[in-house]
Amino acid sequence: MTRIDKNPDGGKDNAVEVRGLVKHYGETKALDGVDLDVREGTVLGVLGPNGAGKTTLVRCLSTLVTPDAGTAVVAGYDVVKQPRQLRRTIGLTGQYASVDEKLSGWENLYMIGRLLDLPRRAARQRADEMLERFSLTDAAKRPAMQYSGGMRRRLDLAASMIGQPAVLYLDEPTTGLDPRTRNEVWDEVQRMVAEGATVLLTTQYMEEAEQLANELTVIDRGRVIANGRVDELKAKVGGRTLQIRPSDTAQLPAMARVLAEAGLDGVSGATVVPDEGLLYVPILSDAQLTAVVGVMGSHGFGIAHIGTHLPSLDEVFLAITGEKTSVSDTTEEEVAA
Ligand SMILES: Nc1ncnc2c1ncn2[C@@H]1O[C@H](COP(=O)(O)OP(=O)(O)OP(=O)(O)O)[C@@H](O)[C@H]1O
Ligand SMILES: [Mg+2]
Repeated sequence: MTRIDKNPDGGKDNAVEVRGLVKHYGETKALDGVDLDVREGTVLGVLGPNGAGKTTLVRCLSTLVTPDAGTAVVAGYDVVKQPRQLRRTIGLTGQYASVDEKLSGWENLYMIGRLLDLPRRAARQRADEMLERFSLTDAAKRPAMQYSGGMRRRLDLAASMIGQPAVLYLDEPTTGLDPRTRNEVWDEVQRMVAEGATVLLTTQYMEEAEQLANELTVIDRGRVIANGRVDELKAKVGGRTLQIRPSDTAQLPAMARVLAEAGLDGVSGATVVPDEGLLYVPILSDAQLTAVVGVMGSHGFGIAHIGTHLPSLDEVFLAITGEKTSVSDTTEEEVAA
């Protein structure tokens, strides 16, 4: 893999460094002073609701849009002052696939390889290889206009990886993909990272962020509202919630008491909701889940139903912005551990 030499004054540890980035569209502040870093060889997940500014950020970092203020340096190159060098070090999969409709899948990839100065043979090999990796070999000769949405997206991803870019931007890469294809994409991203690439990934899916990202930055209305490692943010939100439905609803308070007295590591409290006949327990790890269920069993409580519930992106936002979730709103009795 060829990697472009960095400028001597470029950051050593950060492949992407963004400071005070601002982009306005008329009255809309799409980016309102964004700071973020992506360490070399890691994946940064950028989370945010619709209109948060994710795509605008990716466009600024790919030189497709010029920021109004602030700086962004990618692989040592300034997005405004060195756009040409920068473009040669990055790969981009946009939110909207950008393949040439009239060309076949293979021709699309071969053409991009040639545009990236790969010799003919290498471009051919790389096109074959990427089609294979994204399960498009059978459709290689068909024009892209006949591809389904998922196939198009896979082709687009393959195209962004042809040149083995040092820094790869993926803007909602798996939105609209079926679970199997989503897993294929995740595998490919992980492979790129294992080979040394740095990835900035925007997503609406917590699961995707958890699978791929080392760190997360949450943006809302053009501003960074939280950042940190995935487990740090999850801990803030409370991770999963375990729901236990006892065979006998009258036992709910006793169950909560036993749990509080057990003093399980990291189990911060249980909430009884008598109307629902449920006990809610925030859970941060599989070990805690097992321990909680164990305590219930060893005290002889009968359990009719048990389930876990992951925080949704909505809940993450609610938690990060300091608002309560509906579970705690309906709390009628709280038992602190
Ligand atoms: N070309 C444009 N002209 C005018 N307004 C724009 C343009 N592009 C983006 N915006 C506005 O800037 C804001 C940020 O948009 P952006 O596309 O970056 O959000 P996003 O986080 O990618 O959203 P989504 O999750 O829906 O893809 C929005 O209010 C959007 O309407
Ligand atoms: Mg977007």
